[in-house]
Amino acid sequence: MVFSIRMSRIKESGIRAVQKRIVGKSDIISFAAGLPDPNLYPMEDLRKATEEMFDKEGQKAFSYGLTKGYEPLIQLLVKRMIEKEGVKDCTRDNICILSGSQQGLGLAGLMFIDEGDVVITENPSYLGAINAFRPYGAEFAGVDTDDDGIVIEDLEKVLKENPRAKLLYVIPNFQNPTGKAWTLERRKRFMEVVSKYDVVVLEDNPYGEIRFRNEPLPDLISLDKKAQVVYLGSLSKVLSPGMRIAWVCASPEVAKMVEALKETNDLQSPELTQMVATYYMNMFDMEAHIKHIQQTYKKRADLMVKMIEEHFPKEIKFTRPEGGMFLWLELPKELDSDKILDDAVEAGVAYIPGESFFAHEGIKNTIRMNFTLVTEEQIEKGIKILGDVFKKYI
Ligand SMILES: Cc1ncc(COP(=O)(O)O)c(C=O)c1O
Repeated sequence: MVFSIRMSRIKESGIRAVQKRIVGKSDIISFAAGLPDPNLYPMEDLRKATEEMFDKEGQKAFSYGLTKGYEPLIQLLVKRMIEKEGVKDCTRDNICILSGSQQGLGLAGLMFIDEGDVVITENPSYLGAINAFRPYGAEFAGVDTDDDGIVIEDLEKVLKENPRAKLLYVIPNFQNPTGKAWTLERRKRFMEVVSKYDVVVLEDNPYGEIRFRNEPLPDLISLDKKAQVVYLGSLSKVLSPGMRIAWVCASPEVAKMVEALKETNDLQSPELTQMVATYYMNMFDMEAHIKHIQQTYKKRADLMVKMIEEHFPKEIKFTRPEGGMFLWLELPKELDSDKILDDAVEAGVAYIPGESFFAHEGIKNTIRMNFTLVTEEQIEKGIKILGDVFKKYI
């Protein structure tokens, strides 16, 4: 069988590689996950919403629908974009429903990347996006980040070096993998700088609503004066990832193109889950549900920080998340977190080495830690174990 050249560019994700290393070890405490806690799905309310939807919609829920999405859901998302995300002039023309924001990343690859095009990302960035762009022949240029977000001086340098870059992919809220959020100042300066270039900004925001400390900051799309930002929102982290509901918010021209491409890709996202989500949002207080998620994750993140302070060698740097699902570790430069993982797994703990989140040569002394899919007891126990493992090396 002769496959396309694109297939040779598909890489196994570092995350799957870690999963293989811990498979069959049932008692392992895993900080390697990238998932919301299923115990936080609003199961009872979803059941009631599904029943109500089933009674009212019947066969319609099992039929073909429009590629653009289920109209009542589009209307709810327009309202959300105006009220929560500050996109004052958002209308249905700006929206297309997606089967997860991951689909939006793939479609953005199709829309904006030709062979050899440079895609600019934060360094590190979301592996799923890098891997979605790779098959289209993208070359990557990384921009450094620090505690305040993307480093503007480095952004200017990378844009100057790559004047023909068409796509700039960023996650300003509680980034996967670092958990960092950009400051307001960085957001504003970022928009000032990119507005001088003919580059599309792909703003991926699946974690923005899981802010559990400090006030929400404006999304890039709300600061955009040139219709340069293509925004991806998702219900995966605030309602359920398995429903596969996300949306793009962009200029009407781009939203139409996304719709046309989506038609070739999967015709439509399932009516069934779009309807369940719509009924759920109309019947129940989703904001109260999101608050509950925030409070639960805050407890776990705070506990992880406290345990790290108490049990890790002081040489290890770590982020203090204000939201999202991840915390980022930086070990002393000479250490390789992938090698240490063998010892950690032996001791009963897993994490994701940070190297695979870099498009080029990875930085070997970094680690992504997840705090949403572990209990407080597991955090207490697991961080102590990991501290002992690190002490053997530092
Ligand atoms: C930054 C980022 N973007 C996109 C996705 C995909 O999310 P969805 O479930 O909406 O496809 C994820 C999933 O973890 C993510 O971390």
